[in-house]
Amino acid sequence: MAASLQFNFKPVFPTKSSTNYAPKFNTIRCSASPTSKSYSITLLPGDGIGPEVISVAKNALQLIASLEGIKFKFNEMPMGGAALDLTGVPLPEETLLSAEQSDAVLLGAIGGYKWDKNEKHLKPETGLLQLREGLKVFANLRPATVLPQLVDASTLKKEVAEGVDLMVVRELTGGIYFGKPRGFSTNENGEELGFNTEVYAAHEIDRIARVAFETARKRHGKLCSVDKANVLEASMLWRKRVSMIASEYPDVELSHMYVDNAAMQLVRNPKQFDTIVTNNIFGDILSDEASMITGSIGMLPSASLGESGPGLFEPIHGSAPDIAGQDKANPLATVLSAAMLLKYGLGEEKAAQRIEAAVLDTLNRGFRTGDIHSAGLNLVGCKEMGEQVLKSIDSTVPAAV
Ligand code: IPM
Ligand code: MG
Repeated sequence: MAASLQFNFKPVFPTKSSTNYAPKFNTIRCSASPTSKSYSITLLPGDGIGPEVISVAKNALQLIASLEGIKFKFNEMPMGGAALDLTGVPLPEETLLSAEQSDAVLLGAIGGYKWDKNEKHLKPETGLLQLREGLKVFANLRPATVLPQLVDASTLKKEVAEGVDLMVVRELTGGIYFGKPRGFSTNENGEELGFNTEVYAAHEIDRIARVAFETARKRHGKLCSVDKANVLEASMLWRKRVSMIASEYPDVELSHMYVDNAAMQLVRNPKQFDTIVTNNIFGDILSDEASMITGSIGMLPSASLGESGPGLFEPIHGSAPDIAGQDKANPLATVLSAAMLLKYGLGEEKAAQRIEAAVLDTLNRGFRTGDIHSAGLNLVGCKEMGEQVLKSIDSTVPAAV
């Protein structure tokens, strides 16, 4: 098995000496009885293809647990449109409570046509934002790695896409997504207005910058901070604070780029990037763009982490209502999100590596869902892909940690 193809999910968090930031994932859980570590995981299948991909990831976690001497207690809770239908709100209190009290949270996807026209507070997306805010997960890590097996699935030329391995560090609980004032009103002509506020406090920039510098330090030592400091005040402060924090990380090479240029450079020459740090909305957009370089958004996981408390792990793709319930979804982004959960959420590095290795092995054996399929390969559905991952977990020998 090509153990050298490990995804570049390297540990990322600041040490206590560099900051007062004290992430929980540096602590060792249940160290008293390492043979029967037990974790509670809140599963939020959500909407559309969410339940299908979560079911695959749950099976993978269950198998890895039995192989690695870990125990998982799963608590499945409604979220998004499913919760709206069941309880009338997109994030029921019980769901948030379960998430807060667990060791990690794995989310499928939320949203669908049915709820698209709902008022804002009754949209599935609002539930997701409430969950991120409730768990205080301000740091969103979105890796985009072009796997050699999938280089032909990229819409970019092979020589441009080959070898791309970047990490977008997106600020997740601030900026225009949460800024006030926001809302609707009318202007002096009685015309309708909709408005939002892009706002960042210095401490919000400092903490995400530190996560990004730590991430870059453990990757290839290059950090590109993306902003719109030629126009926006919030970006001017962003650039100033990131530049200040840089003095704590002399070993990391910092550059700044305007977001319009970054969007262009990502498709022109994506290999120039190692780690990117950016605000909430630019991160939303650039991470979708980065994902496409890899061939399919169906491959990319993410981790959202805070200073303490459980992390939230989710594929970056949406609920894909057009293919929901048809056994066509690619479950690998969720399986890889489960690997990030093991690594960043629980510190179970070996189990994480086994899952990553199994995904690569499944691809090496030629199995592909529709989104990453090309001629001559074995087209399978979501369930079959899941079965094949389980086979690979069983048969691949983990690399030494
Ligand atoms: C994402 C999604 C969400 C976001 C939506 C569903 C609210 O696009 O996780 O990237 O905008 O953050
Ligand atoms: Mg998005």
